[in-house]
Amino acid sequence: MSGPRLGGWEAIDDAVDALRAGKLVAIPTETVYGLGADASNPAAVAKIFAAKGRPTGHPLIVHLADPVQLQHWAATITPAAHALATTFWPGPLTLIVHRADHVLDAVTGGRTTVGLRVPSHPLTHELLTRFGGGVAAPSANRFGRLSPTTAEAVIEDLGEAVAIVLDGGPCSVGIESTIVDTTTDPPQVLRAGGITRAQIEEILGAPTESASGPSRAPGMLASHYAPRARVDLVESRVAGLAEVARLHTEGRRAELLDGGSDLVAAARGLYAAMRAADHRGADVIIAVLPPPGGLGDAIRDRLKKAAAPRRTAG
Ligand code: TXA
Ligand code: MG
Repeated sequence: MSGPRLGGWEAIDDAVDALRAGKLVAIPTETVYGLGADASNPAAVAKIFAAKGRPTGHPLIVHLADPVQLQHWAATITPAAHALATTFWPGPLTLIVHRADHVLDAVTGGRTTVGLRVPSHPLTHELLTRFGGGVAAPSANRFGRLSPTTAEAVIEDLGEAVAIVLDGGPCSVGIESTIVDTTTDPPQVLRAGGITRAQIEEILGAPTESASGPSRAPGMLASHYAPRARVDLVESRVAGLAEVARLHTEGRRAELLDGGSDLVAAARGLYAAMRAADHRGADVIIAVLPPPGGLGDAIRDRLKKAAAPRRTAG
């Protein structure tokens, strides 16, 4: 089998054709790369689950070109959903809304709600505009692995399953979108991400709730976003350096992961740093947690998931 085609702007028309033909296209977004399929084609959506090895029933986010398409995919638009979409789209925010009747069960996992997002990456914006429909896309990694933030990382994980990988360069945010469930009152933050809770509460003019766990956000398992290496967490760089030194005396290939005080840069480099440690053959990553609050919450969430015990390391 030949590998996927890798392309940029010149490949967009072919990528649209591939989507229309029910094939998978990897798309760059500002958060992470997505594994995209025509959200209205059940056979195409089924290919996503097969390629990722992802259990069916885990709902997918539908990516749209323009915020006005919200009305086509949502049964109702609450004032909260409207305000958040108007403020943060295009951008790293996913809104859970009551789904319109035509939205496929394969996309929503049979739920009455659907996750929608208008990504800001220019290449994918152009793809979505020319395609016209919704593109269902989870992160373009195999189930349980790190999300890819470069085209190379997509090919490493999913190469053969994808017709075209659109190469939009490294993702600028670097961690997955913030997910807000707007079907509850008050809205609930299901996943921390590039848009902070404070930013959301400022627009809503009211506090949000935090909710997590499989029933609220299926597919957001504890042992997610994990590199091959074991990940141990420390609260300071000093503690991290000491632990790395101690592990070295035991003959372990331990590496320090410290994103530093620039949280935007830390988020952007997080998954690439863990992948790089895997490539170097590290067996333990000692990760320094940033302080809580703002983007620090999202980074802490991903590091805790990477550190969660898991059954297999492959
Ligand atoms: O930044 C992102 O959100 C990336 C890019 C590609 O857009 N996508 C992404 O997709 O992270 P994925 O499938 O890896 O994670 C999406 C999560 C699911 O695990 C699920 O927990 C939640 O979104 N989700 C989607 N639809 C939902 C719904 N209707 N109700 C509750 N949770 C939902
Ligand atoms: Mg994912």
